[in-house]
Amino acid sequence: MKGAIFLINALAIIVSYLLGAVNFSFLYGRLFRGIDIRQHGSGNAGATNTLRVLGKGPGILVLVLDVLKGVGAVAIGYWSAAPDQLWVPVLCGLLSIVGHNWPIYFGFRGGKGVATTIGVMATLAFIPTLIACIAAVVVIAVTRYVSLGSLIIALLIPVLLLVMKGPAEIIAASVILCLFVYIRHRSNIVKLWTGKENKLGAKVNKG
Ligand code: G3P
Repeated sequence: MKGAIFLINALAIIVSYLLGAVNFSFLYGRLFRGIDIRQHGSGNAGATNTLRVLGKGPGILVLVLDVLKGVGAVAIGYWSAAPDQLWVPVLCGLLSIVGHNWPIYFGFRGGKGVATTIGVMATLAFIPTLIACIAAVVVIAVTRYVSLGSLIIALLIPVLLLVMKGPAEIIAASVILCLFVYIRHRSNIVKLWTGKENKLGAKVNKG
């Protein structure tokens, strides 16, 4: 019995990676515009660059699908786990973001994982994620820097979870996801620092 449960858990985690690796930004560009989004704009296969390169409709669609991908992975985890196995949905969420950032189908060159992180964390810990998203929307509205909003979301979620004394597994996941976001935003951080970061609706700097 234990072996069967472990097998289902392991399967859920693998499926989560494979689900996360479905990169909607890349697919939209390739299927509907015949381009590789990674060759355009900032070069990132994510919702922000889709908005920048392909327009508002595709950008919003990719954002929603990327968030839902994270929600779906955690839901698969909850479905496959026993009530005392919080680590399963947590790992499923983490692996969906690994899939998004380093997709097996697309040469391991994916996005920066922010929208999927929002989906994962909103499913695991709704209130801290909601507060972090509201803070990010305000920052983006004022500065026009989406990357700055992304960095704020990633940092605020673990801080809020610590303050609210969330479950250890979810705090650990939020810290790992924060590290992922900062690692994936290295070039954005440099550009923010040097004043060269792309603003929403402005001329594009590659990288
Ligand atoms: O979520 C990605 C965003 O923070 C930055 O995207 O395309 O401006 O590098 P981009």
